[in-house]
Amino acid sequence: MEALLQQIEKYKQEITDVKATTAEAVEAFRIQWLGTKGLLKNIMGEMKNVPNEHKRAFGQVLNDFKLFVEAKFEELQQSNSTEKSEEKAFDWSLPGSSVPVGTRHPLTIVRNQIVSIFKTLGFAIAEGPEIEDDWHNFGAMNLPEDHPARDMQDTFYINQNPAWLLRTHTSSVQARVLETQKPPIRVICPGRVYRNETISARAHCFFHQIEGLYIDENVSFADLKQTLYFFVQEMFGKGVQVRFRPSYFPFTEPSAEMDISCLICDSKGCNVCKHTGWVEILGSGMVHPKVLENFGIDSTKYTGFAFGMGVERICQLKYQVNDLRLYSQNDVRFLKQFTGAV
Ligand code: PHE
Repeated sequence: MEALLQQIEKYKQEITDVKATTAEAVEAFRIQWLGTKGLLKNIMGEMKNVPNEHKRAFGQVLNDFKLFVEAKFEELQQSNSTEKSEEKAFDWSLPGSSVPVGTRHPLTIVRNQIVSIFKTLGFAIAEGPEIEDDWHNFGAMNLPEDHPARDMQDTFYINQNPAWLLRTHTSSVQARVLETQKPPIRVICPGRVYRNETISARAHCFFHQIEGLYIDENVSFADLKQTLYFFVQEMFGKGVQVRFRPSYFPFTEPSAEMDISCLICDSKGCNVCKHTGWVEILGSGMVHPKVLENFGIDSTKYTGFAFGMGVERICQLKYQVNDLRLYSQNDVRFLKQFTGAV
């Protein structure tokens, strides 16, 4: 009997030290102590060997021990199930915290659209430097140094070397193509250009252009018109009208500006079309023989056309953007409106 009491004390110590961190460990504790073949049952079985006069006292000890084991079991269960309930409290079906995905800039979207339209007509893309020399930007394009037409493009010059400038148009890329390729030539030149203008809703010190150049035998003004008409229909839709107005560029002869019917007011007259119903979208013309000769191309054999448009203007008409400054302010409220456009 004494030995049995000592044994129970030892068990109590052992049980006190038990730690169960998993549901399996709690179950193992239950089987070991409270199961049908568990130690508690075993000890209870000793009752029959206890002399009658001690039965009562021993019964009390056994009962306390049983309560002790059960309390421990409950405690283990509890500490495990709090973990469980914390797990349950976390709703795995909730959407994750998302990383915001940016969108393409509207100018990139429109540039890509323009480029892909001309690609279907067989135009290749040509690119060139934004810092140019005077020759590629002006001289080769039939704008000699004191030519008054230079005033059409207010230019940023570079102090360290006055022969360098920020290109005012991507015609400089046309010059670089003519320098290195032989006709037939069919390229479009997208890129950023710079002009020294005061920033306002209608002007900026930089903008984006796409110029085109097509040189081959028998290229005529009719080809120019048809190409640009096709472009307008693809870009803005079938019902949009075009008109050509005579104009002047030193590098083309004859030259024309092309207008499209105003998409903002449906040609009824608004601020964008200055109440004329027409909006100018590009300059164009037949490549001046002098430009061809500058690059050793026989102007009696070859002819060609060129055109140049501002991406901002096309984008303004396509998406009704009314202030040029929006393009470079980096305001997500503006930029995210183009989600989904490609
Ligand atoms: N380079 C002209 C400009 O920037 C546009 C243009 C290109 C006009 C080709 C005619 C032909 O204004």
